[in-house]
Amino acid sequence: MEPFQPRVLSPEEIRVMLTGVSEEEVERARANSLTPLSREVLFEGLPASAIVRDIEGNEYIDCTAQAWTLNVGYCHPDVLAAVVEQMRYLTHVRFGWATIPRIKLINRLPQLFPGNLTRVVLTNQGGGTAIEAAMKLAMVNRPGATVFLTAYRGYHGATLATIAASHYMPVLTRFSGFGLDHFIKFPYPYCYRCPIQRSPRTCGLACLDLVEQAIRYAAGAPIAGLIIEPMQGAGGQIPTPPGYLAGLKEICHKHGILLIFDECQTAFGRIGAMSAAEYYGVVPDILVLSKGLGGGFPIGAVLAREDLKGFAYVEEHTTFGANPIAFAAALAAIEVMVRLDLPGRAQRLGERATARLRQMQEEYPLIGDVRGPGLFIGVELVEDRGTKRPATERAAALVELARRQGVIFDLDLPDIVNGLPDRRNVVKIKPPLTITEEQLDRALDVFEATLAQVSQFPPQMLEEIRSEMMRRAVPER
Ligand SMILES: Cc1ncc(COP(=O)(O)O)c(C=O)c1O
Repeated sequence: MEPFQPRVLSPEEIRVMLTGVSEEEVERARANSLTPLSREVLFEGLPASAIVRDIEGNEYIDCTAQAWTLNVGYCHPDVLAAVVEQMRYLTHVRFGWATIPRIKLINRLPQLFPGNLTRVVLTNQGGGTAIEAAMKLAMVNRPGATVFLTAYRGYHGATLATIAASHYMPVLTRFSGFGLDHFIKFPYPYCYRCPIQRSPRTCGLACLDLVEQAIRYAAGAPIAGLIIEPMQGAGGQIPTPPGYLAGLKEICHKHGILLIFDECQTAFGRIGAMSAAEYYGVVPDILVLSKGLGGGFPIGAVLAREDLKGFAYVEEHTTFGANPIAFAAALAAIEVMVRLDLPGRAQRLGERATARLRQMQEEYPLIGDVRGPGLFIGVELVEDRGTKRPATERAAALVELARRQGVIFDLDLPDIVNGLPDRRNVVKIKPPLTITEEQLDRALDVFEATLAQVSQFPPQMLEEIRSEMMRRAVPER
């Protein structure tokens, strides 16, 4: 029996279904979609690359890796081969069923990370649900504790619990999440804009006191866990300073709090190491993974210390949470990342890119800060290096102009100040780790050209950009 021979449709019908779309169809979908759709309709990614084309044949160098996920590039042939092979046997099973890819992935993941994170939960809904699984696991292991510490400007997902755990954006969203009283926020160690105005050279990590204070004064109930991105992604490409995570671990353990690293973005090579746990030499109690793990297929995973208790059957399960195709994709993606040493590649390319961006910083006052490591790059734009006033409008314009020139960049989360978006001024450069040197150079050429352009924008133009940003971002009421 040939599984890929259709029985009801013809192969031609299927090809047309997936490769052709009329303008009328696009417009109708735009009108009916309850979520905004991008202007461009993406069609095909070139195998294992950073290049994607839209239906009009325009080609883009994608410096977002589609939400920092395609570490192995678009449509990696090895991932596709594994997926196709797996599809011959099983495409879906219910959560409780063991399958070969699930068993292999449970065994493979702990080998990639330091310490004794040997216990594993796999999911297929991405980072947000994996974070929720980690929260549930923390509650299983800290009975009676239902409060979590999370950082200012953290991002952990868009489920109702993870929205509450994340940076709140009033005006831009009409809900703040469920269970806000289960989350206590503490300032992230953002050295460029230190929350306590200290210098990283002399501060002695005084910001760790803020975590102690949050525990002492803000917690009205026992704390189950502290969830932190070891390097903040959506919040603005902010690595924690050396020593911070070790200090945090000490504080957590002193208070019986489980330390949870959200490595949805930082794991699997992007930062020039397999994980931030490895990069900083700090092993959390619980590690959350997603994004790059699936090689483009939806997946999440939670790794936990070997002595932590696991779930009872009804505590953690979803209909699609044991999808063998995604697990097969992950198994192949992991081997590709390891054998091609994508962490090493990200480190080399990242050093080259940040060196060039630092040169640009000397020429363009608009660049306030350049941050890595690896291909986890953020360029913070400011109107004035003294006041560090965020160049939010120029950053938005840069991203738009670059897109017109065939390079896709993105920005960090906005802050809302006096009802207006502010501080969305960090341009993120996070392409697939397979990007070629030439493509990265081309992306940086476009970055520089558009940077030069937006540096010249007069104040009135910034006003117009701001109104347009608000028009696009604020939901209709
Ligand atoms: C650090 C981090 N955690 C969690 C999430 C949520 O993942 P998902 O969108 O797959 O739910 C994201 C998504 O961007 C993320 O960056």
